[in-house]
Amino acid sequence: MRASHSQEYFQKAKQVMVGGVNNPIRTFEGMGCNPLVIKYGRGAKLHDHDNNVYTDYCLSGGSLILGHAHRNVILSAKKTLEKGISFGTTTREEVNMARLICSRVPSIELVRFVNSGTEAAMSAVRLARGFTKREIMVKFDGCQHGHFDDSLAKAGSGLLQPQESTSLGIPRNHVGSTISLPYNDKEMLEETLDMYKDDIACVIIEPVAAHMGVILPDLKFLRMLRELTVKYNIILIFDEVTTGFRAHPGCMQSQVNIIPDMTCLGRIIGSGFPIGAYGGRKDIMNCLAPSGGVYQTGTFSGNPVVMRAGYAGLRLLTNDLYAALNQSCAALGEEVNGFLHERKIEAHLTWYGSMMSVFFRRKAVSNYYDAKAAAGGPLYAAMFRHLMDAGIYFPPDAMEPFFISCMHTKRDLTHLADQLKSFFVDTNMERNRL
Ligand SMILES: Cc1ncc(COP(=O)(O)O)c(C=O)c1O
Repeated sequence: MRASHSQEYFQKAKQVMVGGVNNPIRTFEGMGCNPLVIKYGRGAKLHDHDNNVYTDYCLSGGSLILGHAHRNVILSAKKTLEKGISFGTTTREEVNMARLICSRVPSIELVRFVNSGTEAAMSAVRLARGFTKREIMVKFDGCQHGHFDDSLAKAGSGLLQPQESTSLGIPRNHVGSTISLPYNDKEMLEETLDMYKDDIACVIIEPVAAHMGVILPDLKFLRMLRELTVKYNIILIFDEVTTGFRAHPGCMQSQVNIIPDMTCLGRIIGSGFPIGAYGGRKDIMNCLAPSGGVYQTGTFSGNPVVMRAGYAGLRLLTNDLYAALNQSCAALGEEVNGFLHERKIEAHLTWYGSMMSVFFRRKAVSNYYDAKAAAGGPLYAAMFRHLMDAGIYFPPDAMEPFFISCMHTKRDLTHLADQLKSFFVDTNMERNRL
């Protein structure tokens, strides 16, 4: 792998940007190799400044389900750009996009566009608090809702222990009005909602956890969550920033037929442009300014270029496209898992549609604590380097999922499966030496 130009850029970046990056994961910390500096992307491939080519399994945080520089997306964005970039008024592009999302996502009667998933989740929680006039937000350990202060709370050592924060700079009252519970734990959920029912404004959850590897929900847990939140008049927010439009045109909620009160979206809906959205029941959404008293605004919210590009992308995400993509990802997962199982290798893949992850143990993983124990540490870093050497760009963080787009070919997926297998065989033999 050649790296001289990329490294030159990265050294310059470090002089003017914190750590040389605008998102900590981009430093490749702990992976034992230099970060990528990308020049351009086409389809499933990334090209760096040294003419190295990688098959991209990160896809800009999974936003690019259609791959890089999809022709329809580029043409739509260009056409809109030529008419002007930003107006600060309502546009036809926004209306079309809102209509499309409301028609596809069962829980969304009214929608508000913002510029990131963080903004969507933060605003949805504020709205839930304003609507219910209660303060506590319940979340789940290991679920990711961006980086607003309340979302950075994590569990203390017991239900009645004070919550802690995963970042410096978070005022105590933000942590104090958040409760973080273990994912998939029905007893803790029931006990907590029962105990704090009069103070809980909302429960926010990723209906499939995507940032502690891919962890599927226990459907009984998810159904219980819906029943209890109805019983106690607590707003249920599905954060579908990562799962939204990942595997189904109506998002994860349509697949399991569990309809939350509100939904957060991002990533795929922008076709690679910065975007977020939140929406839900009319009575709740109408508490938002200008109809109601909960304030939220944004200079660039609903930008026409972003809306038009997002719309073009979403229009291509049909049942047929999902059927083919989901099927090829399941085939990859089953093939690799069959191989690992046969050889009694301590690892397995999990997936939700085209979002997949590797756990370094055979036993199933159901929450953050399992996920941390199965993240692999140096083994994941060794796998990352092995894949990079084979021209495969995987997430530079063991807890992040890898993504597959409809531009990945059968050949790409066979190459990935072969490289994973060869890594596990070598590693299993050499485990004692790592
Ligand atoms: C479920 C979920 N919610 C919110 C966010 C925050 O999105 P953004 O990075 O666009 O602010 C993320 C991103 O990791 C996410 O996965």
